[in-house]
Amino acid sequence: MGLYLKQLLAGRDFAKNDAFASGMANFVYVLGDNERKECMVVDPAWDVPGIIDFIESEEMNLVGALVTHYHPDHVGGDLFGYKISGLSQLLSLKPVRIHVSRLESEGVKLVTGVSAGDLEEHEGGDEVEIGNIRAKLLHTPGHTPGSQCFLADGNLVSGDTLFIGGCGRVDLPGGSAEDLYNSLTQVLGRLPDETMLYPGHDYASMPVSTIGAEKKGNYCFRVSGLEGWMSLMGRQ
Ligand SMILES: [Fe+2]
Repeated sequence: MGLYLKQLLAGRDFAKNDAFASGMANFVYVLGDNERKECMVVDPAWDVPGIIDFIESEEMNLVGALVTHYHPDHVGGDLFGYKISGLSQLLSLKPVRIHVSRLESEGVKLVTGVSAGDLEEHEGGDEVEIGNIRAKLLHTPGHTPGSQCFLADGNLVSGDTLFIGGCGRVDLPGGSAEDLYNSLTQVLGRLPDETMLYPGHDYASMPVSTIGAEKKGNYCFRVSGLEGWMSLMGRQ
């Protein structure tokens, strides 16, 4: 199968002279079909022209965008008074469909200014076709109510739900420690150990991990029961 998956780091691979982007350390992913040369971009933000330049240099054809969640460092918008490029600039340069969780679409519209007609709303379990590749949308609430991860051919793009050695914050608006516990234990923790993990930020000493390694070494998987988890999250 011709899966195409590239990991791009803000401040290094695009947005190269942007110190704020470097500090936030967002990963953007390009996911698609290497044979059909079709791809979608996951969480385009910070330097949309730079991301498009990369895609064109790879001779891939951008056919859509996938959104993990509505925070401005992932979709563009205002953050700490700083205007981040994102989905609205993507639409002006490359008018493609934007795939979001139904529960996240209001937030995406509010933060980015895109309209309902630009968005394709999804439920957990939906699949998006990119050429002959299928990306399965896993609803993983907790960091935000409509957070979703993308699973394609044994590769998980996890947004801010699961990091290498950590997991997403639950103290921002719409966050829920209990929902995150369920997402980690009932959804992501049930994926095969060999599933490759591609997180939404470069917060660790390595850029990629596996579900099996995280279940062994990540404190977010090493809590016995919801009660222990809630007290752990309360101490964050
Ligand atoms: Fe986030």
